[in-house]
Amino acid sequence: MGDSVLRAALATGPANDDAPWDRFDSDEYFWHNYKHLRHDDARIIDIVADFFEHCFDRAQPRALANAIDVGSGTNLYPALTMLPFAARVTLFERSHTNRQWLIDALVKPQSSWRDEFWPAISDGRPAYQRIKDPMDVLAGLAWVTKGNVFALRSGQSGAYDLGTMFFVAESITTRDDEFERATLNFIDSLKPGSPFAAAFMCRSEGYYVGSTFFPAYSIDDTDVKSCLESVARISQIERVDSDDLRDGYSGMIVATGWKR
Ligand SMILES: C[S@@+](CC[C@H](N)C(=O)[O-])C[C@H]1O[C@@H](n2cnc3c(N)ncnc32)[C@H](O)[C@@H]1O
Repeated sequence: MGDSVLRAALATGPANDDAPWDRFDSDEYFWHNYKHLRHDDARIIDIVADFFEHCFDRAQPRALANAIDVGSGTNLYPALTMLPFAARVTLFERSHTNRQWLIDALVKPQSSWRDEFWPAISDGRPAYQRIKDPMDVLAGLAWVTKGNVFALRSGQSGAYDLGTMFFVAESITTRDDEFERATLNFIDSLKPGSPFAAAFMCRSEGYYVGSTFFPAYSIDDTDVKSCLESVARISQIERVDSDDLRDGYSGMIVATGWKR
């Protein structure tokens, strides 16, 4: 029996399929996390926007990317960090409620994206400052699609040349093998050499959205490094201070790099 098969057989906590993703309360999640820009997300934005701008500056001229954000939920800022470099942004999401929220938000965006998140992304970064109406541009490029990160390999291996996955791999399961597969599948969906950014909750014990509890697998930055280093050239892995979002976690982790 291989290592991951053995671990899966021994795992006892809820797997990704066990959680009620179609009952995810999108408005509640948005309200709690993204109604206003938080200090921790602002730090993640600085790291990711600097990284993407640096990658694409060095590579000019370069065709606009086919980009993907995996498990978008109700978070538009990963997609916004890819905006200047993308011809299309796939918002790849398992939950029906979150897909409907995304479709609605693209038509009628909440004010925080334009008034708080976009200034944090664009200030001092010429590639972003060139975009005058980011929410209109995003609505024109974004494509909301039903998808499961565990099926991302079949048919979509190497399909994208820019990607983000924020608070997904460790926040959709209690199982280490699923954390690893989600992370590896995300990287596998990229073409070799493509830049990516991923964010993770550190030592999460799971989380409520409204009254519904969702599972997490407790990781720290060493888990992120050991999972990514076989498949990616890592630019940076940084712990981001955060302790006031909810109980049961110890900060956030952001990783940037390129698929090998
Ligand atoms: C903790 S939320 C993170 C949402 C968002 N990316 C953010 O930064 O806040 C986890 C997201 O992963 C989605 N998800 C759960 N299982 C998934 C799967 N197997 N494939 C793709 N997305 C999944 C959930 O519906 C939810 O939107």
